[in-house]
Amino acid sequence: MSTMAPIYLDNNATTTLHPDVAQTMAEYNQRGLVNPASQHQLGREARHELESAREKLGALLGLHLEDIHADHLFFTSGGTEANNLAIQGYHLANENKNRLIISGIEHPSVTASAQWLASQGVDVQVIRTLANGQIDCEHLESLINQDTFLVATMLANNETGVIQPIEQIVSICDRYQVPVHADAVQAVGKTEVDFRQLGITSMTVSAHKIHGPRGAGALIARHGSAPRPILHGGFQQSAIRPGTESVTLAAGFTKAAELYLAQQVEHREHLIRLRDKLESAVVAQLDCATVLARSAPRLPHTSNIAFRGLDRQAILMALDVAGVCCSTGSACASGSSEPSPTLVAMGLAEDVIEGALRFSLGIFNSEEEVEEAIARICAVVSVL
Ligand SMILES: Cc1ncc(COP(=O)(O)O)c(C=O)c1O
Repeated sequence: MSTMAPIYLDNNATTTLHPDVAQTMAEYNQRGLVNPASQHQLGREARHELESAREKLGALLGLHLEDIHADHLFFTSGGTEANNLAIQGYHLANENKNRLIISGIEHPSVTASAQWLASQGVDVQVIRTLANGQIDCEHLESLINQDTFLVATMLANNETGVIQPIEQIVSICDRYQVPVHADAVQAVGKTEVDFRQLGITSMTVSAHKIHGPRGAGALIARHGSAPRPILHGGFQQSAIRPGTESVTLAAGFTKAAELYLAQQVEHREHLIRLRDKLESAVVAQLDCATVLARSAPRLPHTSNIAFRGLDRQAILMALDVAGVCCSTGSACASGSSEPSPTLVAMGLAEDVIEGALRFSLGIFNSEEEVEEAIARICAVVSVL
């Protein structure tokens, strides 16, 4: 490997398309499938492929699919749209209730949707975060009331990888009969995700974090708990998410989930080995380095390391020149010089927040690459 070949440690921003997924999608394109809403035989063929992808993906994610009580899976343009549909669509479906509770560490697609609802008069409450990166369930319990139409939380955070206490959250919300929406975008494949077992009402997933196509996601909702639409158009997907469905994207998403989940245990072992190697070497060689939320339950592939006393943007740029691709936080917030709301919510010291970078590993990273990345990180940080 040439010394400066870029090493991609930004898999939480996106992952490369798996070659087998690319091939599946090419095959679907070559078949020339038409609009699945068309009423002729070619339309019916496309509809059959779309529904078969929906069913396969639903089964992989633990939906109840049999009988008249089958759960819903609405294909969307990604996690962002699915979160918008949940937050705004459940507000529309519960117009007699006015409180929305979200955690303080949500992705911008949840926080910005909630802020928009707040500007329209919705009472938005934010749950406090504990220092270990998990949401404070006692605070949730103090916020929840009969006027609450939804609690929105993540299964696992995209910046720290911290896995949230979803069982406890669901048990609190069940007592008040308040539905829970969970953003599972970073969790799928990296930890167990079974929709029915989780006991939640709705869930957001996205294809491009598990080597599927960008621009494909889904909102999953329990039978009888569909949101109201936020887009208006045709009758596709029960008119809850109108617009011509892409059979190719649906098939690509399903193939990616099939491939990733079939090997999820091996993938996790590989990712943990790489993450532990990265973290222990960097901390051993650099006095200023601290791994954030190291003792909390975490996803196997996400490592947020603070280089105390240094500026995250300066390290990011120097690492980019040295050929290490990482990030200062959510890709959807990049370009912003504001400190990460997630790290601020954890109440971390300013020098920790200012110097924090996210390294996110993927199944195609090798031990060799991680060793080379460690050398580059240590060299760059020592100079700075
Ligand atoms: C936790 C989380 N939710 C939602 C999203 C948005 O998903 P998409 O990029 O598919 O719109 C992301 C992507 O970064 C994410 O990390």
